[in-house]
Amino acid sequence: MLPMDSTKKLSFNRKITDGDLVIVYEKHDNMKAVKVNEYSVLENRFGVFKHSDWIGKPFGCKVSSHKGGFVYLLAPTPELWTLVLSHRTQILYIADISFVVMYLELIPGCVVLESGTGSGSLSTSLARAIAPTGHVYTFDFHEQRAAAAREDFEKTGLSGLVTIGVRDIQGEGFPKELVGVADAVFLDLPQPWLAIPSAGEMLKPDGILCSFSPCIEQVQRSSETLTAKFTDIRTFEVLLRTYEVREVKMDESQSEEGTPGSHRPCKRKHRATEASHWQQDGSGSPIVMARPSSEAKGHTGYLTFARLKCVA
Ligand SMILES: C[S@@+](CC[C@H](N)C(=O)[O-])C[C@H]1O[C@@H](n2cnc3c(N)ncnc32)[C@H](O)[C@@H]1O
Repeated sequence: MLPMDSTKKLSFNRKITDGDLVIVYEKHDNMKAVKVNEYSVLENRFGVFKHSDWIGKPFGCKVSSHKGGFVYLLAPTPELWTLVLSHRTQILYIADISFVVMYLELIPGCVVLESGTGSGSLSTSLARAIAPTGHVYTFDFHEQRAAAAREDFEKTGLSGLVTIGVRDIQGEGFPKELVGVADAVFLDLPQPWLAIPSAGEMLKPDGILCSFSPCIEQVQRSSETLTAKFTDIRTFEVLLRTYEVREVKMDESQSEEGTPGSHRPCKRKHRATEASHWQQDGSGSPIVMARPSSEAKGHTGYLTFARLKCVA
């Protein structure tokens, strides 16, 4: 096991101070990032919240408005940041991000190269995975996007871990100064096969490349290019199935789900199977139901991983 110190986790470590970025959480699909300013207020449907009341409170706390409404103030973790950041491009979400971080075998101290940066959604998680001693070098050829991402890395406190460059990676490849330094390379580019030869030069022996592409034709072309210098080429499509969990009265559950028993009830309280509800206790109390969420995401793209061949 890696020696990890959980007190380093932002939400456990710190109380909110003036100038901090906090995620104001109303519910899972209603959150926003707010920079704390002791002279400012936040106004929403629950009332007016004075930032000065937030200072000195721990991340995760519940705070009240002048009318008694409340919100939670959460730490800006990569998971939450991905949900609130401003979308300047298509972004990667948690399912793909988790898979990428795991399959790229990222640990503290790793060096990762990325292109394009886009909205910095993935970069934020890459940075946390390699912190505190690693580094992410990320490149986008779009100057304004790169500038906006740089500002976001400042805001989220990651600027010491991420360097962003403006560069046409498909046309010019990665900078020569980075040859042989990367433990991993991640590509989210329209024509990744053009950048793969350069990515191969940047990787350490046995380093791993991942390319994200929405279309299977892109995967095919990338894979053809990968065969020259890479091995262990594998493509995954990550599909996430989210369940909504809520309490309903028996009548409601019958009208929504058909006759009770038409779905096999699951006796395990903490696992949703293909059955769409959990069994009630027989006392007539409301049933806790779990069913696939209507807002679940489908296809996002294909993740192709490959390992640089070691030349003995
Ligand atoms: C879909 S976005 C990346 C999103 C990113 N993975 C995220 O999670 O936020 C693709 C980015 O690639 C950049 N891009 C496209 N072609 C490029 C090239 N030749 N060199 C560098 N960046 C490029 C675009 O400007 C765009 O910002």
